[in-house]
Amino acid sequence: MEKELSPSMPAVSRSVAKLAPLLLSLVVLSSLIPSTEAYDALDPNGNITIKWDVMQWTPDGYVATVTMFNFQQYRHIQAPGWTLGWTWQKKEVIWSMVGAQTTEQGDCSRFKGNIPHCCKKDPTIVDLLPGTPYNMQIANCCKGGVINSWVQDPANAASSFQVSVGVAGTTNKTVRVPKNFTLRAPGPGYTCGAAKIVKPTKFVTQDGRRTTQALMTWNVTCTYSQFLAQKTPTCCVSLSSFYNDTIVNCPTCTCGCQNNASQPGSCVEADSPYLASAVNGPGKYSYTPLVQCTTHMCPIRVHWHVKLNYKDYWRVKIAITNFNYRMNYTQWNLVIQHPNFDNITEIFSYNYKSLTPYGGINDTAMLWGVKYYNDLLMEAGPYGNVQSEILFKKDPSTFTFHQGWAFPRRIYFNGDNCVMPPPDSYPWLPNAGSRLMNALVVAVSAVVTWLLFYI
Ligand SMILES: *[C@@H]1O[C@H](CO)[C@@H](O)[C@H](O)[C@H]1NC(C)=O
Ligand SMILES: *[C@@H]1O[C@H](CO)[C@@H](O)[C@H](O)[C@H]1NC(C)=O
Ligand SMILES: *[C@@H]1O[C@H](CO)[C@@H](O)[C@H](O)[C@H]1NC(C)=O
Ligand SMILES: *[C@@H]1O[C@H](CO)[C@@H](O)[C@H](O)[C@H]1NC(C)=O
Ligand SMILES: *[C@@H]1O[C@H](CO)[C@@H](O)[C@H](O)[C@H]1NC(C)=O
Ligand SMILES: *[C@@H]1O[C@H](CO)[C@@H](O)[C@H](O)[C@H]1NC(C)=O
Ligand SMILES: *[C@@H]1O[C@H](CO)[C@@H](O)[C@H](O)[C@H]1NC(C)=O
Ligand SMILES: *[C@@H]1O[C@H](CO)[C@@H](O)[C@H](O)[C@H]1NC(C)=O
Ligand SMILES: *[C@@H]1O[C@H](CO)[C@@H](O)[C@H](O)[C@H]1NC(C)=O
Repeated sequence: MEKELSPSMPAVSRSVAKLAPLLLSLVVLSSLIPSTEAYDALDPNGNITIKWDVMQWTPDGYVATVTMFNFQQYRHIQAPGWTLGWTWQKKEVIWSMVGAQTTEQGDCSRFKGNIPHCCKKDPTIVDLLPGTPYNMQIANCCKGGVINSWVQDPANAASSFQVSVGVAGTTNKTVRVPKNFTLRAPGPGYTCGAAKIVKPTKFVTQDGRRTTQALMTWNVTCTYSQFLAQKTPTCCVSLSSFYNDTIVNCPTCTCGCQNNASQPGSCVEADSPYLASAVNGPGKYSYTPLVQCTTHMCPIRVHWHVKLNYKDYWRVKIAITNFNYRMNYTQWNLVIQHPNFDNITEIFSYNYKSLTPYGGINDTAMLWGVKYYNDLLMEAGPYGNVQSEILFKKDPSTFTFHQGWAFPRRIYFNGDNCVMPPPDSYPWLPNAGSRLMNALVVAVSAVVTWLLFYI
């Protein structure tokens, strides 16, 4: 057998050798393809942790303070806010709540006299709105379910409420931790693990002179997956430069296709006489986007323009446009990866923080709006955009306008990946690169672009 095969072996191994780099890169790339599980390379530990602190045993149960911490660097929960659910293990009821409420009371007919706040086996909790009477508030409550991201505003990255549970265990041996936690924001995307009993939380008094502790504590960790949240992208990137007249638009049909005969009315023309009725008509308070008709049909477009070239510096303009008539994006943020972020010199009218300041790679930045100035990205229309400019210092050893180097490697809007145009369409420097080289770059980068959306 071996002898028979051997004549053909050299040929095979030669072609394998040629293919090796490609195969290797495919292996590396495929290891990056995530399944539905949430792994974000730029925020590998990002999660929302829900902590239950039992503060007091009562004759038939306990009082717990529940706090949700948003440990995600750049993903926040904006209006209309979070919805939290769980399933009781026994016949527990909620006697009362402070700082939140259940959406339904359920069937409490087995109770006489005092009627519980909620008797459902799987209660659904929502935050109270700002302006809730003082006696129904606790710290970190009543923000309409809005939770900021950890980098953007750590002081507002938590949300709390208090729950008084009855018909429950009254010692740490008999209490049963709820199961099957669900967190919606308000749509799908988060997956919560099982509650884990952990060391009781310690609380230090404000003057730092006394420490108290919870009677019992359990934690639940929820992680986000863009794939679970929506099957199609919600954001795309367009590019332009001072050195080439071409404006590279978002890829056609990135987020959907226009003129889909089987789904008419899936977008509205900006100058349509029906715009007002479409925007204010039925579904006004729906959170499915109503987008302006564009070739890409995305609710959000990020435009990167290479604006100026100085001797030692270069300048980029970044504009975000909202095409969704049904959404004002509050506390929006961008995450951008570009090798020159390690030499950022100045950023105008956005806040900035380096997301990867350690480990030698310093190429990812988080940008967000300046409070009361441009932190609100208004609904589609004349005010539906925000913009800013960045000044980078050139590092002579890496800087080039060739081969699309000046364009971002990836962009997230509010934590969701924005689809980039295929690299072969990037505006070129006049006379850039050989055809063969370009064809190769095109082939590989098409695969990469496709993969990046799923990362
Ligand atoms: C959740 O995030 C916190 C803060 O980044 C981290 O310490 C913790 O390990 C994370 N939990 C999980 C289960 O990843
Ligand atoms: C339950 O309480 C006892 C003391 O009353 C303590 O020793 C034990 O560690 C507690 N268990 C848990 C899981 O908190
Ligand atoms: C968990 O909750 C979800 C949604 O509330 C429900 O569809 C599912 O059946 C529940 N699973 C269990 C094991 O209770
Ligand atoms: C439980 O959650 C709290 C708050 O996020 C955190 O400080 C604590 O370390 C967590 N405990 C464990 C064991 O993960
Ligand atoms: C039209 O919409 C339907 C339903 O959403 C979808 O299955 C189909 O692929 C769309 N066609 C085009 C050309 O986008
Ligand atoms: C966006 O905000 C403006 C001004 O606050 C308001 O008039 C408009 O109704 C809001 N649009 C949506 C879709 O919430
Ligand atoms: C990364 O870049 C930021 C902003 O330019 C800078 O403050 C930080 O020191 C840099 N870190 C490293 C390791 O270069
Ligand atoms: C750019 O940043 C890197 C890493 O922070 C540093 O080593 C390099 O000297 C900087 N280049 C210039 C031109 O400032
Ligand atoms: C501008 O870039 C496009 C690629 O997007 C290229 O086809 C064209 O030749 C470039 N224009 C010039 C003047 O080089």
